[in-house]
Amino acid sequence: MGMNEKTESVNTAACGKTSMSIGVCYFPEHWPEDRWESDIEAMADCGIEYVRMGEFAWSRFEPEPGQYDTAWLERVVDLIGDHGMKAVLCTPTATPPKWLVDRYPEIRQTERDGTVREWGSRRHYCFNSETYRQETERIVTELADRFAQNPTVVGWQTDNEYGVHGTLRCYCDNCSAAFGEWLREKYGDVETLNETWGTDFWSQHHTSFDEIEAPGHTPTDHHPSRLLDYYRFTSDRVRDYNRLQADVLREANEEWFVTHNFMFDFTELDAFDVGSDLDFASWDVYPTGFAQSKPESEQTAADLRIGDLAQTALHHDLYRNAADGPFWIMEQQPGSINWPPTTSQPAEGAMRLWAHHAVAHGCDVVSYFRWRRCQQGQEQYHSGLRRADGAPDRGYHDAAWAADEFEELAVGERAQPDPSVAAVFDYESHWALEKVDMGPTFDYASHFATVYEALRGRSVGVDIVPRDADFRAYDAVVVPALHVLDDEAADRLAAFVRDGGSLLTTARTGEKTPGNQLHPTAPGPLADLVGATVDNHESHATDTLETTVEYDGDTFEYHTWGEWLSPDAAAVVGKHRGGVGDGRPAITHRSVGDGSVTYLGVWPDEALADAVVTDVLAAGGVEHLDSPLPDRVQVAERDGLTWVFNYGAHAVETDLPAGDIVVGDATVPAYDLTVFEGAATDITVEES
Ligand code: GAL
Repeated sequence: MGMNEKTESVNTAACGKTSMSIGVCYFPEHWPEDRWESDIEAMADCGIEYVRMGEFAWSRFEPEPGQYDTAWLERVVDLIGDHGMKAVLCTPTATPPKWLVDRYPEIRQTERDGTVREWGSRRHYCFNSETYRQETERIVTELADRFAQNPTVVGWQTDNEYGVHGTLRCYCDNCSAAFGEWLREKYGDVETLNETWGTDFWSQHHTSFDEIEAPGHTPTDHHPSRLLDYYRFTSDRVRDYNRLQADVLREANEEWFVTHNFMFDFTELDAFDVGSDLDFASWDVYPTGFAQSKPESEQTAADLRIGDLAQTALHHDLYRNAADGPFWIMEQQPGSINWPPTTSQPAEGAMRLWAHHAVAHGCDVVSYFRWRRCQQGQEQYHSGLRRADGAPDRGYHDAAWAADEFEELAVGERAQPDPSVAAVFDYESHWALEKVDMGPTFDYASHFATVYEALRGRSVGVDIVPRDADFRAYDAVVVPALHVLDDEAADRLAAFVRDGGSLLTTARTGEKTPGNQLHPTAPGPLADLVGATVDNHESHATDTLETTVEYDGDTFEYHTWGEWLSPDAAAVVGKHRGGVGDGRPAITHRSVGDGSVTYLGVWPDEALADAVVTDVLAAGGVEHLDSPLPDRVQVAERDGLTWVFNYGAHAVETDLPAGDIVVGDATVPAYDLTVFEGAATDITVEES
């Protein structure tokens, strides 16, 4: 049975119906026992079907070493079952208790400068501590065995948000030793490592794997090859740690699903890799908080009220594909939140809009965080669906509203989105570009988002996939900045093109070998397919230098990075205009076999990204809108139903006939949505 089948059968069998579900995160340990029943009754009234619990409760499960107490949670789970709902439990490993840290101080994390991370918040453990792995196995086995026969428990979340608060990469002695072993396994003998990294530079030759250290604090940059391997190693080790937990859980009950809650803009952990051990991926969605990751000068009122549409959509498409789909929202923002720089009240209806957004992208369950605002601890200023006194808050009404609509739309019966375009997201390229020796930061994820947003701007659905995905399922594939490139990936892309696919690849592709040394020319092993090489490049911190290109008779702007191309078999379709690079090739196109490849040698502005992407779609025969959607508007299609999302502060007009509309209206108000029967490209949307 495939993972999809398993997930679907768990969901439908578990709740006895096939509609999309609403869930909630609950912390019964924060409340007196005599409140549990009224809380759980109110959850059922709201239409909630899944209750997630336990992720930080280790000190309640094991108050003293070896003395377990799960009776309290069993009583809560029984109440949940009595009210016709299902329980999702979490392993409590994100918060090792005080007695455990005192007993084994070596499990604590160490920062790059040697500072030890003390007990007192969360995520203070090191993934490479063998002691912590043993303690993890012990507590997870104990909990799994105690709930294995409980029919209300349908699955588990492992740990909680691996790596949040900058905790994925640790620099302690355990990590140094484990890194040495990981390298020994990868390279076999130390001379192969020296050759792959190129260690004659600055006397960085290694004589043995025993002398390897985690890349700690140094006067200036670390060797880029050491860093890239360290980033691979840290991601691999978290994957192994997650696998340890998943294996224990499946051993106890093979019917359980196992998932993990990933995060926004978190690129230190390869989600595709971890996802291969999960039944489905989940992620945690806090749009008004995420939007505040933009520079303050770029944040709009709409960002603070509803968040950034494109950011959220991109992560839905990423995590839908991280474990072969579908996906869950394990934590959905319930109202105002405590952790961003400022605490804004979300727009009216925002908590319903966010749930619809996830569902349109293939989500099965939207679980709100948290049930009830908490009076103790670090998150007192974070709202819940209910207030601290138990009265309904804004999110409760929105969650009930969304639950009713999902039932009416029977979205759970609809197949997953089925895009004909894939975008390759490559964690290794991101890691290699984390440290750039020149110019402004070439942020891989932002560059990727530029291309992704251009596709979505034309109402085109996108699967975000790893470099080793099966491209044959797609008509067009976009590969922004595939910086680290080997022959295998290049050959697979070439086969896709020869077989009729339309490929777009962009600046900084194929600059580096897997060892993070330069290829003699970029785009490295893809040069033959592209039919051009990169002759020279420059980076742009400001508007001081000329950044204009001519493409298809129009002029456009670019920023951050520009390349001068040297075509061989490719046609030049875009040229630099002005300045020292005037007239030099910037964009090339080449037909190969039954398909074609476009190389875009600059970081395009929105208009240039739209122009190039539209041509790439046309070359692949992918249906798309004739003109781009208005800013902050996107359209998402799922099996015959299409959602129009307006994350803008003003209404927009569609040309939808009333008979096709199933939710909303032809005019989509600010911060609202319309759902219609039809395809994403059957529509025009204009600003009012
Ligand atoms: C998440 C985390 C939760 C809670 C929440 C607050 O990142 O998983 O435990 O802290 O943020 O918004």
